[in-house]
Amino acid sequence: MRSENPDFFQTLASQQRPSYLWIGCADSRVPANEIVGLPPGELFVHRNVANVVVHTDLNCLSVLQFAVEVLRVPHVIVCGHYGCGGVEAAYRREPAGLVDNWLRHVEDVAFLHERELEVLPSEQERLARLCELNVLEQAVNVCRTTVAQDAWRRGQPLTVHGWIYALGDGLLRDLGFSIDRPEDVVAKYREVLAVGSR
Ligand code: CO
Repeated sequence: MRSENPDFFQTLASQQRPSYLWIGCADSRVPANEIVGLPPGELFVHRNVANVVVHTDLNCLSVLQFAVEVLRVPHVIVCGHYGCGGVEAAYRREPAGLVDNWLRHVEDVAFLHERELEVLPSEQERLARLCELNVLEQAVNVCRTTVAQDAWRRGQPLTVHGWIYALGDGLLRDLGFSIDRPEDVVAKYREVLAVGSR
């Protein structure tokens, strides 16, 4: 890094000005910076099992609040991934210990979209769709936080995105859920659901 830019670490140590908050899965195969090809300092990151945004999770809310209100990031990306072990465990209801309590939030997503999922022809397709639906629901949850709502009320530019990454080909897909004002959440949510699986 120093051979390319001798001041890289000095500049980085004195400030951070990321433009993005990444909310992603803790899975070791989904490293935020590498996936988007951004160097240190460009991405503020929160990761947990199955990229879940829970309204009472002080950890996630604190990251979101700091990113939006202090760092003033204009973009929040919720990025899930196909082949997510957390989503699979929730779908199959396989006991895995304490983490099952966390994964109940993903089970809630499966329950909410039960009718859409049950008509899909294979388990592989149902799991892939549940990974997408989980991103969508968690992105909606970001939009509904006081942090996002307050930012929009202040007129602060903030766009929430829903993306999904495929372990199999290394490509990111935009699920088409990009929200920059609270009035659009419900209509966009319905629109993305109507388009169906990608
Ligand atoms: Co995962």
